[in-house]
Amino acid sequence: MHQEHVGAQGVAAGDIAGIAGELADAHRELLAKSQGGLEAEFACLNLAHEMPGSLGAIQQAADELRHFRDIVLIGIGGSSLGTKAIRHALKPEHDQPAGGPRLFFVENIDPYHMDHLLSQLDPTNTALLCVSKSGGTIETIVQYLILRKWLKKTLGPEKARRHEWLITDPDQGWLRQLSTEQDIASLPVPPQVGGRYSVLSAVGLLPLAVIGVDITELLHGARHTVARCHSDRIEQNPALEMAALYYLLDVSYNKRISVMMPYVNRLRLFVDWYCQLWAESLGKWDTKRPDAPATGTLPVRAMGAVDQHSQLQMYLESRHDKMFTFLELAHWDYDLDIPLEASEREFFPYLEGKSLVDVIHAEFVATRQVITDTGHPNMTLHLPTLNAYTLGQLIELYQRTTVYTGLLYGINPLDQPSVEKGKKLAIQHLKEMKT
Ligand code: PA5
Repeated sequence: MHQEHVGAQGVAAGDIAGIAGELADAHRELLAKSQGGLEAEFACLNLAHEMPGSLGAIQQAADELRHFRDIVLIGIGGSSLGTKAIRHALKPEHDQPAGGPRLFFVENIDPYHMDHLLSQLDPTNTALLCVSKSGGTIETIVQYLILRKWLKKTLGPEKARRHEWLITDPDQGWLRQLSTEQDIASLPVPPQVGGRYSVLSAVGLLPLAVIGVDITELLHGARHTVARCHSDRIEQNPALEMAALYYLLDVSYNKRISVMMPYVNRLRLFVDWYCQLWAESLGKWDTKRPDAPATGTLPVRAMGAVDQHSQLQMYLESRHDKMFTFLELAHWDYDLDIPLEASEREFFPYLEGKSLVDVIHAEFVATRQVITDTGHPNMTLHLPTLNAYTLGQLIELYQRTTVYTGLLYGINPLDQPSVEKGKKLAIQHLKEMKT
């Protein structure tokens, strides 16, 4: 990310020192707003320490859910992206244990998808897990209504109720009311914790526990990051350092696009989670300060090595308005040697004695080199290995980095006012629609 590596497009030596005061202020504000456990304004940054107290209730619900063959998680945005990301990284779809429950996600509205899903499920052996912090998100509610009806049709209302679990606000919203009135099992999302920062609450922990992710280790990893982020000095606080670099590259060097490119297939959905976290938290135009510039860099998904054959040409020759974050895995649990017969060896002598891990590593190093040589600022996060602990570390790191970056911009990284506007407008259109 620095000029000494990428030339004039990188952060200059004095830049970080130049915002030392802002960094200290951002750190102070983060600490102040994190005081008070789950009551704090930034309660989302306290989940790693607070959630162990709720693991008993979560594990109990997970034990009950595990009696079902299939579990359908209904939720959108922050209510499903984190769970999907961790499931994809640690318990990918093709790797589900034969006896264990299958986890399906119902997220976007698509009647074709819903119809196909219903054709695969048996209501007598299916549980619904409806996740919505507000308890009223229209995409989630309409699909939950359809699935409830489908359950009730076969099981009757009494039995169907025992196939349903809700994760929602402890006091407010339609789902909470439903849980109270119809005695449907539920777990709370702490009131101060918003969707995209909620994966380390019951929102992610319950479904992940059901499929066998070690949620204790996930929280343990997150706590490790918290412990590494106590200082207001960037050398001793990786989240603050990353925020400083992302922020400076935007405001001082016009890098408006932030590409995240893992060289690990299993991190593909982590990038989706990060994109939502980054975009919804930082893309802000403060209506109370109309003269202040709009904030935020556009997060863009890429995948190594696939996008070397798709996006890379543009990265190398188009505008210098981008910065890059690579994710690389240091240790792979699996590897396959490349078998070579004599004639193949003649054509590909450099593959002699190499494995798939060697090839993906070479692809990564080469791409990073050309991106660097072209003068694009970039950073690499090396994951020692991919497990619940390191994912917990990574998630907490990005949540904190996002909050720090928002504080540096001077905006609220926890709200999403215009998204709310869109939700209300969709309801208005439904009201006006002729039936
Ligand atoms: O981060 C957010 O707040 C949003 O992306 C929400 O997660 C999303 O809109 C779903 O909201 P809810 O959980 O209330 O159904």
